[in-house]
Amino acid sequence: MYNLFINPQNKKGHINPELQGHFSEHLGRCIYEGIFVGENSDIPNVNGMRKDVVDALKEMRIPVLRWPGGCFADEYHWKDGIGPKEGRKKMINTHWGGVLEDNSFGTDEFMELVRQLGCKSYINGNVGSGTVQEMSEWVEYMTFEGVSPMADMRKKNGHEEAYKVDYFGVGNENWGCGGNMNPDYYGNLYRRYQTYIRNYNPDNKIFKICCGANAGDFDWTDVVMKTCFKNAEHFHGFMEGLSLHYYTVPNDWQNKGSATKFTEEDWYNTLKKTLYMEELIKHHTSIMDKYDKEHKVGLIVDEWGTWYDVEPGTNPGFLYQQNTMRDALVAGINLNIFNKHCDRVKMANIAQLVNVLQSVILTEGEKMIKTPTYYVFNMYKYHQDGELVDSFIECDEIGTEKDKVPNLTESVSVDKDGRIHATICNLSCTDAYDMKILLVDKKVEDVKGEILTNKMDAHNTFEAPDTVRTENFETTVDDDGIMFKIPACSVLHLSF
Ligand code: AHR
Repeated sequence: MYNLFINPQNKKGHINPELQGHFSEHLGRCIYEGIFVGENSDIPNVNGMRKDVVDALKEMRIPVLRWPGGCFADEYHWKDGIGPKEGRKKMINTHWGGVLEDNSFGTDEFMELVRQLGCKSYINGNVGSGTVQEMSEWVEYMTFEGVSPMADMRKKNGHEEAYKVDYFGVGNENWGCGGNMNPDYYGNLYRRYQTYIRNYNPDNKIFKICCGANAGDFDWTDVVMKTCFKNAEHFHGFMEGLSLHYYTVPNDWQNKGSATKFTEEDWYNTLKKTLYMEELIKHHTSIMDKYDKEHKVGLIVDEWGTWYDVEPGTNPGFLYQQNTMRDALVAGINLNIFNKHCDRVKMANIAQLVNVLQSVILTEGEKMIKTPTYYVFNMYKYHQDGELVDSFIECDEIGTEKDKVPNLTESVSVDKDGRIHATICNLSCTDAYDMKILLVDKKVEDVKGEILTNKMDAHNTFEAPDTVRTENFETTVDDDGIMFKIPACSVLHLSF
């Protein structure tokens, strides 16, 4: 029997809804086909946005969407994507598949998407190949309400009211595809570019995000923080977030492995690599603490998820991959980690929304399927805006000789109505476990459960879209707790 102890009186921090954020790039079939089909498409749409996709994302309560990249962001010149469509520049997307980019989806379309989704906006600016003026004018175009050249341009394009920009990223992966910079060079550029990201609108304080490290590159965090924080007392509010990118790549980058054909060894290797996220968060935040003594800068994990070999027969530059129960576990483990570190992690964005890497949705023509990862987000949505509470789960080490993982991970929150939500992952691909939840100083009432469980490689296809989906889950309650058996390979949500 494995016990989960919960002390709901001991609140540990606020869970920003943005911990369940998403990312959409001009990459493969994410934006075009996956989201935007144009007003004249036969696929049902509202102002060009697929209705089926928007409805599914609203149900999942998508809290924030990042755009336009990714590596694409540091090659994107926003003025190419505004105004009458026939006049927009056509170009080759050199990063991703060498396909034609006709710029028919630009700033105004993104803001329309965000409006339909009812979520926050996260714009990623171009430092690698863009100018300070270009970035500054983009912010002016989007957020300035008065009379100005950029605000007038927006109005001329049919958008009288200013948009809200919640988050703004100053470059993406500037250590790599965003300009191959050294950390001190980027740190100085960050100081300069961010100066011109003005808060034009008193109701729109923009959360500025500095480009952080790739996985375990702790030197990047150290040097960028040191460079940015030198004499920082003179410029208040210059950095609200520092990003971190970490992908779960089984094996190695040369041979990532198949999304659907894998062994038990691959299963544990993938989950072990996923758990490394916690170490990364702890280590990067301890470096940030040296310079940001008041802990004001949030860690923004704005790219995470699995990265496998592309599906056979698809464009290698499109990064299209299937999604199994293994991905469901990767999502559940990561979201539990983010919850547990909600004091410092303020946003996280899985890569990417539709048809790219670890997507919540896949499309093929007019067909759409929800992936196992979608169902995990749909269960975890109850943590959004909750308070993390103290919890401790008893567990054992399982796995292979090479890759050991705990058999169970969890996070627990209490929502505004006082309901407790516990999300538990069973990392074993073979064993079910008897469990008991014990609540400190509180009686358990009205337990509801939903679970996602199946064979480790089970996935949804366009022919069999409902192979993996959540089901109701029954428990028994006695005087001191909730009892149940958690099946192998599962993600469980209980509320009470
Ligand atoms: O998500 C795919 C790519 O991964 C992004 O464009 C880039 O930022 C990262 O390297």
